[in-house]
Amino acid sequence: MSKGRGTGDGGGCPPPPETRPARVAVLLSGRGSNFVALADGCARGEVPAEIVLVLSDRPDAPGLARARERGIPTRVIPRKGLGQQEQERQMVAAVRAAGTEWVCLAGYMRILGAEFVAAFPERILNIHPALLPAFPGREAQRQAFEYGVKVSGCTVHLVDAGCDTGPIVAQRAVPVLDDDTTETLAARILEQEHRAYAEALRLLLTRGWHVEGRRVVFG
Ligand code: GRF
Repeated sequence: MSKGRGTGDGGGCPPPPETRPARVAVLLSGRGSNFVALADGCARGEVPAEIVLVLSDRPDAPGLARARERGIPTRVIPRKGLGQQEQERQMVAAVRAAGTEWVCLAGYMRILGAEFVAAFPERILNIHPALLPAFPGREAQRQAFEYGVKVSGCTVHLVDAGCDTGPIVAQRAVPVLDDDTTETLAARILEQEHRAYAEALRLLLTRGWHVEGRRVVFG
């Protein structure tokens, strides 16, 4: 069993006594609507955190502009020319230099290598647009729609070295309607993603928690 706020220390997992906001880095490759939802949640005081860095592997990611509009520092570390290992080493260094405690993946379209994951144990979160363990990987909304499920949704989970396999923090269900298309379903799931991500981070930062096997247990 591992505990919140200190993997493998065998210690307890009380709610954090400090009152300063947690420092968070966001990794993204695309439009960044989940980043914006998190940033708005922080700005409204609903999530006791501050996004201090937005990091991308893509210089053209629209989410970077949305970060700059908010005055949040950005950094681009493309994989091209570096390779995965070196790119991720540079990302670890950038995240550490920003003094962040948490890393939130918000549409970061690459699977993180074991070294990156090991650098921030139980401090990396991801949002996935399906009810895991169903439909991991890309185009989860299309996978769910084409499979014909009647309920899909989204999942916020701690990141391990697998693809969408880490312990689940929060999930929200979304019904699949008869007149849905992949696009309408994805849009309704996205609305819930924005709520679920902020809520999951708020829970992790304000409640005691630990990981028991695969289960994230609060209380
Ligand atoms: C979201 O659907 C998220 O669940 C998935 O990638 C998409 C990113 O969207 N991991 P956005 O860039 O946050 O708008």
